Amino acid sequence: MKSRAEVRFRAEYDAAPVWSAQAPGRVNLIGEHVDYAGGLVLPAAVDRYVAVAGAPAAEWELRSDSEAGLRYVQAVGVVLAAPPQRCAVEADLPVGGGLSSSAALLVATAAGLEPGLDGKDAALACQKAEQQATGVRVGIMDQFASALGRVGHAVLINCLSLAYSYVPFPDDLAIAVIDSGQRHDLANSPYNARRDGAVAALGDRVLINLKPADAGDEPLLRHMITETARVREFVDCLRAGQRKRLGQLLNESHASLRDDFQVSTARLDEVAQAARAAPGCLGARLMGAGFGGSVLALVESAQATAFSAALSAPVLICHTADGAFAQTGVT
Ligand code: GLA
Repeated sequence: MKSRAEVRFRAEYDAAPVWSAQAPGRVNLIGEHVDYAGGLVLPAAVDRYVAVAGAPAAEWELRSDSEAGLRYVQAVGVVLAAPPQRCAVEADLPVGGGLSSSAALLVATAAGLEPGLDGKDAALACQKAEQQATGVRVGIMDQFASALGRVGHAVLINCLSLAYSYVPFPDDLAIAVIDSGQRHDLANSPYNARRDGAVAALGDRVLINLKPADAGDEPLLRHMITETARVREFVDCLRAGQRKRLGQLLNESHASLRDDFQVSTARLDEVAQAARAAPGCLGARLMGAGFGGSVLALVESAQATAFSAALSAPVLICHTADGAFAQTGVT
């Protein structure tokens, strides 16, 4: 993908780029709507990429198939105190398809502008850039996964301390991302409102220390507490190979996002239901912010083709990948 961005740069500007880099999209296995409240999340970087090639210029300029790109690229540049650049973008990651194309664009730009940056610092800079570019007060999960994911693994992130570890992901499980066809635009969604409600319900308590009984009658808090417990159990089940329970946890996460956190839609419920009935499916849930977007399903690899064929919505089968700032040797 990186070389495609370089080719596009030459074609667009009739000059050679000075830098280029790529970053992967992400899926979130479990741990939804808890990152901004200091919870646990379990995303993975996946093998679909956004690549950027660039060179210093008099002012910011971008050639890309997606119009929104310039705001993101420029915001990363501003956060990293880089001079203006002209850039070209290529991607094989669908924009708005639930794989965090915006995070991948931000992280690729950061990797191109400052390849020596620490991965966590890169994720924090990109989170800040996304917040500035969109006005949506997103958490750290998407940028962190795109920066620090690792092939063959999911990343368990403690969003309070930003400590992280890698959890092996089985070779024979396919990650299916199903497009609901309902576009979500976080800037025009209740994302900030839901986030503010959740953070207010938590108050000054530490989410990862709370038990279900602490939620009282507060549904936003109940979702965050039970979701954090599901992340812990999901990690244990991945390590123990307890597949049936993995699927149940996905389904329970969906129900909690639908009933307690109220970020699902009738269409997402329908797609998740159809996915669960398709061959080889362990479980399915809405993925990401909700209000439209995509559904994640885990599927026995041997049945991935039959699974995709059984659904009327578009299915992307993806595999874990290395993040743009992944280092070997870290555990
Ligand atoms: C979006 C945000 C993330 C996270 C999810 C919900 O993807 O960018 O930070 O809050 O929604 O889990």
